[in-house]
Amino acid sequence: MLGNFSYHNPTKLYFGEDSLQYLRDELKHYGTNIVLIYGGGSIKKNGLYDEIITILNDCGKNTAEISGVMPNPTLEKLYEGITIARAHHADFILAVGGGSVCDYSKALSVSVHCKDDPWEKYYIRFEEPDCQIIPVGCVLTMAGTGSEMNGGAVITNHEAKLKIGHVFGEEVMPKFSVLNPKYTLSLPKYQMCAGIYDIMNHICEQYFSGEDDNTSDYISEGLMRSLIHASRIANENPQDYEARSNIMWTATLALNTLVSRGKSTDWMVHMLGQSVGAYTDATHGMTLAAVSLPYYRYIMPYGLKKFVRFAKEVWHVCGKNKSDEQIAEEGLQALENWMKDLGLVMHISELGATPDMIEGIADGTIILNGGYKTLSRDEVVQILKESL
Ligand code: NZQ
Ligand code: ZN
Repeated sequence: MLGNFSYHNPTKLYFGEDSLQYLRDELKHYGTNIVLIYGGGSIKKNGLYDEIITILNDCGKNTAEISGVMPNPTLEKLYEGITIARAHHADFILAVGGGSVCDYSKALSVSVHCKDDPWEKYYIRFEEPDCQIIPVGCVLTMAGTGSEMNGGAVITNHEAKLKIGHVFGEEVMPKFSVLNPKYTLSLPKYQMCAGIYDIMNHICEQYFSGEDDNTSDYISEGLMRSLIHASRIANENPQDYEARSNIMWTATLALNTLVSRGKSTDWMVHMLGQSVGAYTDATHGMTLAAVSLPYYRYIMPYGLKKFVRFAKEVWHVCGKNKSDEQIAEEGLQALENWMKDLGLVMHISELGATPDMIEGIADGTIILNGGYKTLSRDEVVQILKESL
C-alpha cells in the first residue's frame, strides 16, 4: 500500500540554454553579502565564472569567494568556509559547480551560525539545524547527484575515515537552481559516465524496495529507460545537447524527493560506496558502480519479483520459457553490459581499495534496513570482497 506522505519541493528550477539570465532576478530577493562557492577551476576554464561575476557586480553584490571545493568535500574545508562566511556576514550562498559544490554549500548554510560542531551535530548525531540557515542558490555544472533540488549534503571526514550524508529538510534545499545542459558539455567523459551511473543508482535505490504496486515504480522505470537511451547517445557523442539535457533532467527527477514518496527505499549501494569513498576518495558514481553488481546479485533472491520486473520493464528481457531466476539474472546481465559499455569502474581495487581495507570499509558502512535483505556485517564484508 502506498504510505501516507506530504510532498513539497521548494526549489525553483530554471532549465535550458538561456537559464542563467534568471539569476539576476533571483538575486534581488537576497541581501548584499554573497559567498560564491566553486570547485577546482573548471568554471574558470569554460567561462562561467566570468559570467557569474558580471551578474554579481551588475546586481551590486559584495562577493566573497570560497574556491577549491574538492570532489567529496571535506570537513576541514567546511571549517575553512565557516570562517570566511562569518567574516563576510553572508546573506546568501551561491554554489556554482557539481554535487560537491552544492552539497558543501548546503552544509555551510547550516554551519555558519551553528553553536555546536557541525560534524558532531549533523553527521554523528543526525540532529536537525536549530540555528539561522543561510539561503543557497545553485548554478549546476554536472548532472548526477540531484543535489540541485534536494537537501542532501555529504561530507568526508578523512581523519575518522567516514563519508556521511545528512539529508536536510526543505529549509536547506536550494531556493533556486539554474540548470543549463550546455555547462555540462565541458565535463570529462569519466565524470559524465560516473554521473550517469549515479543517476541510475539513485533510481535503483528507491526502486528495489517494497513489493507494493505503486506509481513511483512506473515513474522510476520511465526514468531508467530514458536515462539508458540518452546515455547511449551521449556515450557515442558527448556533445549531443538533446541527450545531455535529458540526462540532466533525469538526474534532478531521480533524487528530488518525488519518487520516494509513500514507499520504502534501500540505499545500501550508497552506504557501501560512500565507505569505499572515505578510504579511497574515489569519484562517487564509480564507487557505486564497483559495488553494485555483487550487491544486487546477492539480494536478488530476496526481492526476486522486483528483479524480474526490472528485467522486463527496463531492459526488455523476454520471459518466455524462462524461470524467474533466469529472467532476473538476464536483467542484471543487461545492466552489467550497459555499465561496461559506459566504461564504468567495476572493481573497487581499480579505485585504490586493497584487501587490508575491507574490514575498515565494512566498519564505516552504515547498515540500513529498507532493502530486500538487511545485511549482517559479515555479508557486508563478503560483498566488499566480491567487489575487489
Ligand atoms: O572542481 P571542478 O574544477 O569544478 O571540477 C569538477 C570535479 O573535478 C568537475 N566538473 C564539474 N562540472 C564540470 C567539471 N569539469 C568540467 N566541466 C564541468 N562543467 O567534475 C569533478 C566532479 O565534480 P563533483 O561535484 O565532485 O561531482 P558530483 O556532481 O558527482 O558530486 C559528487 C558529490 O556529491 C555527493 C557525493 O557523495 C560526492 O561527495 N552526493 C550528493 C548527493 C545529494 N546531495 O543528494 C547524493 C549523491 O548520492 C552523492 O552522495
Ligand atoms: Zn549518489
